Amino acid sequence: MGSVTLPEAEAKELLDAQAHLWRHVFHFLNSMALKCALELGIADTIEKHGKSITLLELANSLAIHPNKVPSLHRLMRLLVSSNFISKETSANGESLFALTLSSKLLLTNHPLTQAPFALALLDQTLIDPPSHHLSSWFQNEAESPFHISTGKSFWEHAGHEPKFNAYFNKAMESDSRFVTSFLVTNESFRGLFEGVESLVDVGGGNGTTAKAIMEAFPRLKCTVLELPHVIEGIQENGSGVIYVAGDMFEAVPHGDAVLLKVGSVYSLLFLLFFS
Ligand SMILES: C[S@@+](CC[C@H](N)C(=O)[O-])C[C@H]1O[C@@H](n2cnc3c(N)ncnc32)[C@H](O)[C@@H]1O
Repeated sequence: MGSVTLPEAEAKELLDAQAHLWRHVFHFLNSMALKCALELGIADTIEKHGKSITLLELANSLAIHPNKVPSLHRLMRLLVSSNFISKETSANGESLFALTLSSKLLLTNHPLTQAPFALALLDQTLIDPPSHHLSSWFQNEAESPFHISTGKSFWEHAGHEPKFNAYFNKAMESDSRFVTSFLVTNESFRGLFEGVESLVDVGGGNGTTAKAIMEAFPRLKCTVLELPHVIEGIQENGSGVIYVAGDMFEAVPHGDAVLLKVGSVYSLLFLLFFS
């Protein structure tokens, strides 16, 4: 193919279009940088330090190999650009890194921590094989891209892999704790429960949402319907929630109302990749 010469206006538009394309091609690096930060424990380390941290202090605390300190700097710059880390410059010109509100949500001791959620949703099982099979899934009969890579549905896979099952249920727990902390104080949400005496949370995970609802509405009787492998891992602590092992496509226990909470943004992801 010969070289192409473009008029200036068209060249500018094409450069913008290419920049847009590159942003999307490399966008996954933001997610992977976030995963790396979580695995290294960057947020917890900065929190433990008690004040903004220099690159070398961070590298020492994380036991980073000396050859990799410049790469740690690049990682921190990426996290600054995605607003998980803030950066200021000290009087002697050194970069000082601190947490933002978003990275505070990744602290393992934060009461509403989202670290388990982020780690599970960025787990290789969920990302690698299914996302590489999306286009072929559109052209064959497989139920989901997850079936193509594992031969099972996501839920069957979780049922066969206890470690992954526990990991995923913890992730859902952190999401539920976060969401319900807002919901139970929201007036229109509270209004939904007027006159309701019994509620069935279908696919209610380990009961975090049901427990929060029962605490907020002590007269409400809550039942969680879940797949047997999820119910097996639940350690009940006298919350009063009733747990029923079963399949919602076969039977749902009776109740005045049914709750089906799959999470907001990622419900689409689930439908596409795993169901
Ligand atoms: C995305 S998770 C949501 C968990 C919880 N509702 C929450 O929002 O934290 C979906 C849940 O549905 C459960 N589930 C999937 N298929 C099911 C079925 N056929 N019957 C009952 N539960 C099911 C899964 O085990 C999983 O815990």
